[in-house]
Amino acid sequence: MNRWQNLWRYIPLVGLMLLLSGCGSDTLSALRPRGPVARDQLFLMELSLGIMVLVTVIVFAIYIYVLVRFRKKKGDKDIIPKQVEGSHVLEIIWTVVPIILLLILAVPTVSYTVKLAENHIGNKDAVHVKVTAHQFWWQFEYPELGISTAQDLVIPKGKKIAFEITSADVLHAFWVPSLAGKQDTNPGMTNTMYFEADDAAVFMGKCAELCGASHALMDFKVISKTEADFTKWVDKMKAPATISADARNGEQVFKDNCLACHAVSPEGLGMGPNLNGFASREMIAGVLPRIDKDGKDVSDAKLHEWISNPQSVKPGNKMPAFGPTGSKPLQDQQINDVIKYLNALK
Ligand code: CUA
Repeated sequence: MNRWQNLWRYIPLVGLMLLLSGCGSDTLSALRPRGPVARDQLFLMELSLGIMVLVTVIVFAIYIYVLVRFRKKKGDKDIIPKQVEGSHVLEIIWTVVPIILLLILAVPTVSYTVKLAENHIGNKDAVHVKVTAHQFWWQFEYPELGISTAQDLVIPKGKKIAFEITSADVLHAFWVPSLAGKQDTNPGMTNTMYFEADDAAVFMGKCAELCGASHALMDFKVISKTEADFTKWVDKMKAPATISADARNGEQVFKDNCLACHAVSPEGLGMGPNLNGFASREMIAGVLPRIDKDGKDVSDAKLHEWISNPQSVKPGNKMPAFGPTGSKPLQDQQINDVIKYLNALK
């Protein structure tokens, strides 16, 4: 293979690097922190990366210098140069320098680790949230506020959110890259963590542990609001939904078929997500956007798709199919009635 053929082999690699460097977004990137916890963690990453780059550059510079400077040139005789093993000066240098570098790395790492592991549950100024991961959705309980919800984690900006994190089935991991590093959710075990958002915005959350067929679809959102808007949201979640007369049929169908798994009360918990306030959630089933690319509201069609055949949307999830060929078939009219009722749950 000649020199050029050799170089061509690296083209796909360079292409891949360019392609991947475009990944990430403002609301889903550990490299663009939007809160103090994520900022501290990014600082630790930059510090260790900086030290690693420094060491690599210096070591390679010496290596290349020695290669060039001391290589055998044409006409050189076969001689062995002066040997310097056992040099006290050199040995002290390469023992002391790494110790200093490790200290620079260790002091902030240990102190930040202790700080970020602080438990803020019970702290009067923090909002306490219990997170439970399910295949393939997220449950959020606010025990002090008496509400529970799913998929959209609503928080006040500028306040510490103190989490207790667990799983109802298999291993998952709770991750909001813009706000903090991930934390495992393990069945039968509770982990704690906290984060805080700088401003009112929507951040993307991900499940960061392979947990089954729809792991990649196990997304959620963190909706950070001003303190006043957060209080409004809490009040709304507690207020009973107004069910208009034309949604009453759907309410009955829902009670007969869905209520066994899906609570619709402020505090209710069940096998499936609590649907209280469902019509205000940004996504259906966490993955189907209500608004399509052209800005059209496609909630009804997407809900119909989801209720009829949930497996086609999120493979491996535990919801039965209510479509004509499903395990719990409903008539088309009944599904449409349920959709009407769900749209009333604002
Ligand atoms: Cu849950 Cu991956």
